[in-house]
Amino acid sequence: MKNIIAPSILAADFGNLAGEIEMLNKSECSWIHLDVMDGVFVPNISFGFPVIEPMARLSRKPLDAHLMIVDPDRYIERFAKLGVEFLTVHLEACTHLDRTIAAIHEHGMKAGVAINPHTNVCLLEDVLEKIDLALIMSVNPGFGGQKFIPQSVCKVRKLRGMIDAAHSKCLIEIDGGVGEDNVAMLAEAGVDAFVAGSSVFSSKDPLKTISFMANA
Ligand code: DX5
Ligand code: ZN
Repeated sequence: MKNIIAPSILAADFGNLAGEIEMLNKSECSWIHLDVMDGVFVPNISFGFPVIEPMARLSRKPLDAHLMIVDPDRYIERFAKLGVEFLTVHLEACTHLDRTIAAIHEHGMKAGVAINPHTNVCLLEDVLEKIDLALIMSVNPGFGGQKFIPQSVCKVRKLRGMIDAAHSKCLIEIDGGVGEDNVAMLAEAGVDAFVAGSSVFSSKDPLKTISFMANA
């Protein structure tokens, strides 16, 4: 079974976005990861709907949207209309997470919940049977190109145990500082989906890098 590779477009050349999407369409990646940042939940602003819309039009891969924004409920319908496959919200940004998950499903998308490095995986326990994706941040959210936080591996193992015990079909996604050097170790720890930004887009041969990671 191949690893699910989800290149983060945040690390792409925004002066050649159509070309970068075309490269990903031809690659062995499974999804395209969209890092949406509002400058409030995280200390950075990335892109909004005027950029996401053309990316959705050009992409032939499922879109994996990672919302690093406050009050994400406001935008569920707009992401659904763009055909986003996975809509992931931060547990730390949701007052009524159960209601948000239900709303994402009602709009026909798969629901993901992300947790920051300081957030314990136990906080996912009561939603594990309802969500399709649990995203473990292995860097502090807001920027690409950061160093992988080693403690994230224990969180993966613990979450894998919780998912198996709950007989949940929830996928584990890891996000931040993932590359050719740690993908195999993370797959062995129980990760299903791998977000890779700088390791893909700063590679001399992104297609080769994606292929390596998909088959590691
Ligand atoms: C960080 C984002 C990550 C990041 C990954 O807030 O959620 O998706 O873009 O970039 P790399 O792979 O360079 O750490
Ligand atoms: Zn992300």
